[in-house]
Amino acid sequence: MTQSINLVARVIGVVAILSIAMAGLSAKPKPKAAKPVAVATLAGNAVRGKALYQSCTGCHSIDENEVGPKHRGVVGRHSAIIPGYAYSPALKQSGIVWTPAMIDRWLTNPQKLVPGAKMFFSVSNPQSRADIIAYLAEQK
Ligand code: HEC
Repeated sequence: MTQSINLVARVIGVVAILSIAMAGLSAKPKPKAAKPVAVATLAGNAVRGKALYQSCTGCHSIDENEVGPKHRGVVGRHSAIIPGYAYSPALKQSGIVWTPAMIDRWLTNPQKLVPGAKMFFSVSNPQSRADIIAYLAEQK
């Protein structure tokens, strides 16, 4: 009797191990991580963006130059052209036009996009960047 219980226990054990192994084998390969280019095409939510823009207001405002240049009309505008704001030479020479994709790269890592730029702030969350850009696009 004890022996047959042992046998059943063993069979159950083997079946369990086999099914775990099979599950591992049949697991589908994970989808590849989205490439950074795809990130810029995330749909932004301007309402959320307005709230997130509060993280920019330590240095920026929509209508006044402060630590950073004013933002009204920035989406689609050439970089470093706001009169009365002292841009870094690096940004002045960058030739960048602030398309949504460019702002996305800027907010990801300003110094990587424009070495020598003097904005020391970044937004790591892709959806947050898209939301902020959607908000800025409304500030025409
Ligand atoms: C710690 C201060 C600081 C914060 C916070 C900050 N910025 Fe800036 N930003 C700057 C400075 C300084 C510049 C000018 C950079 C230069 O001249 O190299 C700048 C430049 C820019 C420009 C280029 C504007 C132009 O006229 O070419 C954009 C766009 C921008 N910031 C967006 C943002 C957004 C959006 C946020 C919030 C998510 C933000 N910044 C947060 C300091 C800041």
